[in-house]
Amino acid sequence: MTTIVTLKNMSKGFRDGESFHSVLNNVSLTLQQGQTIALTGPSGSGKSTLLNIIGGFETIDSGDMLIRQTGNMHSVTKWQDKQWSQYRRQSLGVIFQQFNLLTPLNVCDNIQFSLALNQLAWSPWCDELCHQLGLTPLLDRNVENLSGGQQQRVAIARALAHKPQLILADEPTGNLDQHAGLQVMQLLTELAQQANCCILMVTHSEQCAAFMQHRWHVENQQVVINPADMTLQG
Ligand SMILES: Nc1ncnc2c1ncn2[C@@H]1O[C@H](COP(=O)(O)OP(=O)(O)OP(=O)(O)O)[C@@H](O)[C@H]1O
Ligand SMILES: [Mg+2]
Repeated sequence: MTTIVTLKNMSKGFRDGESFHSVLNNVSLTLQQGQTIALTGPSGSGKSTLLNIIGGFETIDSGDMLIRQTGNMHSVTKWQDKQWSQYRRQSLGVIFQQFNLLTPLNVCDNIQFSLALNQLAWSPWCDELCHQLGLTPLLDRNVENLSGGQQQRVAIARALAHKPQLILADEPTGNLDQHAGLQVMQLLTELAQQANCCILMVTHSEQCAAFMQHRWHVENQQVVINPADMTLQG
C-alpha cells in the first residue's frame, strides 16, 4: 500500500484574544492511495480544520506532516508557497459544500480551468467523467444557471479531471436533497475508484458515510480511527 499523507504528533489550535484554543492535539495518522474515509464528529470538533491542514490551507503548530510528491514523501515544514501551490494543483482535488465554481464560466471552462493549471489538455477521461456525471449535454451552460445537484456534479468533475492522488471533500452533499445527495455520493466514489484517488470526506450523514471504506471520528481533539482500520496505521 502506498502512503500519500502522514501526520506525526500534529497539534493545531487557534489564538482567541489572549487565550489559546486547542483543536487537534498530538494527532498521528496516515492516508493511503485509493483509500476512502468518512470523517465524522460533532460541530466544532475540528473536521474542517483537519482538511484545511492536509490541503495546506492552514499551518500546523507542532509535529510534522509528510506528503507524497513525485514519488517520495516530503516533510512540509519547510515548504514555501511555491511547493504548496504545486501540490494543490497536481495532487489535490477539493470539493466543498458551497460549490466554489467559477460563475461567469460554463461547465466546460470550469473543468478546463482545473486542467490548464497543470498544462493538461482535455482527455478521454474528461469525456468519461462528463458522461458518467450526466454533464455532456450541459457543457456550454453557464454554471450559475444549473441546479444544486448539477453544480455539485461539475465540482466533482473539476476535482477529478486531473486524477489527483487525494480528494478533500467537506460535506459535499450538504446542500442537496437526499436523493441528489446519494446519487452524487455514488458517482463520486465510483469515479474516484476508477482514478485510484483517496477520498477524505467530512459528512454528518450516516448514509453518505456508508459509501466510504473507513470511518474516522474527530472528538476531544483526537482523530479516532475505527478498530478495523488500525492495521493501516502501521
Ligand atoms: N481560522 C480560525 N480562527 C479561529 N478559530 C478557528 C478557525 N478555524 C476554526 N476555528 C475553531 O476551531 C474549532 C474547529 O472548527 P472546525 O471548523 O474545524 O469544526 P468542524 O468540525 O468542521 O465543525 P462543523 O461540523 O460545524 O463544520 C472551532 O472551535 C472553530 O471555532
Ligand atoms: Mg466544518
